[in-house]
Amino acid sequence: MRLLFSLLALTFGAANAGPLAAPQAVNATGYWYENIQHNGISAAIPNGKNWVVFRNVKDYGAKGDGTTDDTAAIQRAISTGDSTGTRDTAHFGSTGQPAVVYFPAGTYLVSSTINNPVGTVLTGDPTNRATIKAAASFTGANVVFGHDKTFTGLNGFFHSIRNLVLDSTAVPASRTIALLEWSVSQNNLLSNVLFNMPVGAATHTGITTQGPNSPLIINDLEFRGGGFGIQLATTQYHLKNLVFKNVQTGVRLVSVLQATAQGMRFEGCSVGIDASTASGMLSLIDSSATNTSVVVSAAEMTASSVKGSLVLENVNVDSTVAATIKIGTTTTLTGSVKPGTAWIRGNTYAANSTTAAHASGQLVPVSRPATLVDPTTGSYPALPPPTYADVALSSFINVKTVAAHPVAGDGVTDDTAAIQAILNDAAAAGKLVFFPHGIYILTDTVVVPTGSRLVGEAWTQLSASGAKFADAKKPRVMLQIGAKRGDKGVVQMSDFILTVADVLPGAVLMQVNAAGEKPGDVGFWNCHFRVGGAIGSKVRGEQCAKPETCVAARLTLHLTDKSSSYWENVWSWTADHDLDSTGTAENGVYPAAAGGFLIESKKGTWLLGMGVEHNVLYQVNIHKAENIFIGLQQGEAPYWQGNGTTLQAPAPWTQTLLNSDPDFAWCGADDAMCRAGLYQIITKSKNLNIYSSGFWNFVAGPSRTFCADDCQDNAALYESNEKLFVYGLTTINNKNMILELKGKTATPVATRAANTGGIIDGLFRSATVAAFFR
Ligand SMILES: *[C@@H]1O[C@H](CO)[C@@H](O)[C@H](O)[C@H]1NC(C)=O
Ligand SMILES: *[C@@H]1O[C@H](CO)[C@@H](O)[C@H](O)[C@H]1NC(C)=O
Ligand SMILES: *[C@@H]1O[C@H](CO)[C@@H](O)[C@H](O)[C@H]1NC(C)=O
Ligand SMILES: *[C@@H]1O[C@H](CO)[C@@H](O)[C@H](O)[C@H]1NC(C)=O
Repeated sequence: MRLLFSLLALTFGAANAGPLAAPQAVNATGYWYENIQHNGISAAIPNGKNWVVFRNVKDYGAKGDGTTDDTAAIQRAISTGDSTGTRDTAHFGSTGQPAVVYFPAGTYLVSSTINNPVGTVLTGDPTNRATIKAAASFTGANVVFGHDKTFTGLNGFFHSIRNLVLDSTAVPASRTIALLEWSVSQNNLLSNVLFNMPVGAATHTGITTQGPNSPLIINDLEFRGGGFGIQLATTQYHLKNLVFKNVQTGVRLVSVLQATAQGMRFEGCSVGIDASTASGMLSLIDSSATNTSVVVSAAEMTASSVKGSLVLENVNVDSTVAATIKIGTTTTLTGSVKPGTAWIRGNTYAANSTTAAHASGQLVPVSRPATLVDPTTGSYPALPPPTYADVALSSFINVKTVAAHPVAGDGVTDDTAAIQAILNDAAAAGKLVFFPHGIYILTDTVVVPTGSRLVGEAWTQLSASGAKFADAKKPRVMLQIGAKRGDKGVVQMSDFILTVADVLPGAVLMQVNAAGEKPGDVGFWNCHFRVGGAIGSKVRGEQCAKPETCVAARLTLHLTDKSSSYWENVWSWTADHDLDSTGTAENGVYPAAAGGFLIESKKGTWLLGMGVEHNVLYQVNIHKAENIFIGLQQGEAPYWQGNGTTLQAPAPWTQTLLNSDPDFAWCGADDAMCRAGLYQIITKSKNLNIYSSGFWNFVAGPSRTFCADDCQDNAALYESNEKLFVYGLTTINNKNMILELKGKTATPVATRAANTGGIIDGLFRSATVAAFFR
């Protein structure tokens, strides 16, 4: 997402207010990351070899003693650039100024707002989280302003806050204050943070967001005290593992089109989730409440509206909870919603039905595949991102300090052979591999063997380069997880970006072959894919000013049939603009990558907080797959497709389609509205449970014209599936939400026209289906 600030702003107005036992876990006398050699660089800016990535706030004068005002020292650690400029002015673009600002254990008193520019990771020690504490005399609306003020929320990428405590308990309860302002889009991370507020302080809020923005997930957070945990005004969100203790209202949905809340825990709240004003579609799953008056507070819903569509599944309350759902002043549901049933309100397509029934709120029988859930709780796995806090420094290898295999990470040197050798040795020795920030050039496939744990830093880049990836007829994998199909064992990665250094029509950025013993053994957290649009890649500038000359990649991710993997917080972005150009307003980049994610896995796949954008054929293609959980899929088609384009799907891939690719045979010749990238294809698959799909389309055609009506015809395409449970599908500017294919005939089943009446109808052509079963 990138465009349309003013239009969206009308709608989304300002808000009112390591899971695994590690190998050789030995005496961990300190957090490995604090003590490891810090030799990351900024590979693509002038003089970037001297760039300081790791900044310990104490080296910049912060005391962390709970009494000294550390505001200026912390901001100095964040804002220091190099001799050419500071980090708070967009001087280094979006990707040129990586910084990890590290807070050793302690209490850091601040008297005014800390600003967090693009590319910044604020982190503490997960074994003893530092506290950033607002002084009693604090001035300002937010303790931390979490995103860069020089970018709009829709361009708010590359921010991370983790392993910290934000605290307003010293600020008078009568003050209006938010601990964190977090109006960001994709490729951000907010995790393992405690928001500590005075109990009963009605005007203290943990997190505020202002629309418009396009985020994916926030996860593993705790809120104590205060009036609101989160006030959410945003397009879509996956909220995962959030605990609210004695917060008056846990989450207030100010204006949200499409959201999944998974693993919520409400204790001592008045209201868990307040969806009583403008709210779109919400799925609340695998959650619980105690000593809480109302779990979900919702508004009345008319039969002609989809506003306030709601699904509850596996929500456990005890006898102290007065209402599980309250609509207006009426208690509509009490007690738990057990696995095996879902409470659904909104437009519902029952199994085999081609027409929507408007459910005003009812319990219906549903199921979850046994492979996907914990047998005792019935819940899907929701695993915290690994910090490896229990692993000693001696168990880590810094990939840039192995004398026998020199690695540069400088965006120029071919690091393929050295990285392969280090990964092989590390897996054999049970060591973890740390990749300091940089751009690591890979000119051929690198195999990540089972027994590997790779940790990046402020989104370390692995970048495909060279002739081996250049043949569209011979797709070739850059990073292969597991040497062969069905390999068993652990492979984990966190904090990486996989990308292309050049226009490479044969590049498949990652293929996963491995499966573990349990969910998360093969797991990816905060790992993203990016095709172009940034310094260090040639997928920008003149050759990518039109898609014909910028056939940039084949696939970003391929999950093969015997693989099983857990994904959390993953954005696959084929560029729609240049993140680092300071040139013209749009900085158009028009890559024509074939596909986003090809999912053929059968053994259990979990995708939480996923966004896949701007690919020619599809964003996500689930083909002959089984046992798939999707918490949230956000997507957009390429902006250059649609009305007026001469390059109509499957072009430019017509001559090199794979068996799993859509051929668009159901579209008329020259029908540009039909021949546009699909958001979600599900064919010949079974046992799929999908909780949120947000498929957005705003502009189309060679000059990216705002669509007065629909931008394209079809969003999702389904064919011959069994046990498909789709909840919460919301589209903007798509004529058909779901097209069903039988043989060669494609029939629109769920149409926009049949599912209107959402929160931004009128401004855009939006539509919401609460449930669709096959
Ligand atoms: C861990 O190391 C520290 C410092 O070397 C030492 O004092 C401590 O006894 C060790 N603990 C264990 C459990 O080995
Ligand atoms: C229930 O929640 C209220 C409001 O936060 C709190 O004051 C009270 O102590 C809680 N009761 C129990 C038994 O936890
Ligand atoms: C749907 O149709 C199939 C094939 O006709 C049938 O076997 C199945 O029982 C139907 N399911 C429901 C829920 O009606
Ligand atoms: C396509 O573009 C033409 C020319 O701008 C316009 O007249 C027409 O209404 C557009 N059609 C659709 C379906 O948007």
